[in-house]
Amino acid sequence: MELRHLRYFVTVVEEQSITKAAEKLCIAQPPLSRQIQNLEQELGILLFERGSRPVRTTEAGQFFYQHAVQILTHTAQAASMAKRISAVNKIVRIGYVSSLLYALLPQIIYLFRQRHSDIQVELIECGTKDQIEALKQGKIDLGFGRLRISDPAIKRIVLREEKLKLAVHKNHRLAEYIEQGLYLSQITHETIFSYPATQKPNFSTLIQSIFTELGLVPKDMVEVREIHMALGLVSSGEGICLIPESASDIGMKNLVYIPILDVEAYSPISLSVRNMDQSSYVPNILACVREVFEQENIHLKMNE
Ligand code: BEZ
Repeated sequence: MELRHLRYFVTVVEEQSITKAAEKLCIAQPPLSRQIQNLEQELGILLFERGSRPVRTTEAGQFFYQHAVQILTHTAQAASMAKRISAVNKIVRIGYVSSLLYALLPQIIYLFRQRHSDIQVELIECGTKDQIEALKQGKIDLGFGRLRISDPAIKRIVLREEKLKLAVHKNHRLAEYIEQGLYLSQITHETIFSYPATQKPNFSTLIQSIFTELGLVPKDMVEVREIHMALGLVSSGEGICLIPESASDIGMKNLVYIPILDVEAYSPISLSVRNMDQSSYVPNILACVREVFEQENIHLKMNE
């Protein structure tokens, strides 16, 4: 028995007529009748009541019809899922938070493109929280983010904990701490620019939570749209701001970057993937992360 026999049978039942079913299937009526008779012979049962007009199934025929519909539906679903999986495996959509462009993300993506030239990479800027929804909805396949957000459907792999630094103008009184570093308790009375001004939780929430964890309350936190704006204002002598260490490469004029001595002052960098995702791009991107970390002498955390 082939799937086409089931399709013939189901069409005859649904059209209640051999003639209409033959038209719908674009085949002649005699071969369709023959196929139905062959099916009955193969099963050793009558599927249709003899001489009934419109065509009526027997009780066994009705039972067989319901299962035949299920088999055809499952087959169609399997085919469409397989097609989707094959398409997904050829294009990988990577969500990322923009500050990672100053970190190692460009090197990792470049290496991935070189190693897997058959796979098309699409980069989509997306906050860590939005990445969770985007992963669940299949809008992205991998998400590189900075926050500790968990969700039962998502596996979050922490890759490293990047230290934070304080950006100040080179003539600011705190600039003298450039060698020795300072504690966050020393800056609570300063004007501190936080960013981005997007849906929370975001990097600004992370900074707030670090102060809270340390039992500190910054007196003048001012939220601005994004990191460039914060650094531009610091460069204009308006205040100071905390940045992930790698963002010091942005290179805004007249700034110096001071190490923060509190161990709590770090931003976790993590990779989020769908829990059930067995696709090869997951181990493949992790292999690229590992290789870039080795080149840069950075310890890979990878606690899952
Ligand atoms: C990093 O800078 O550590 C990093 C950035 C993006 C993805 C993975 C790691």
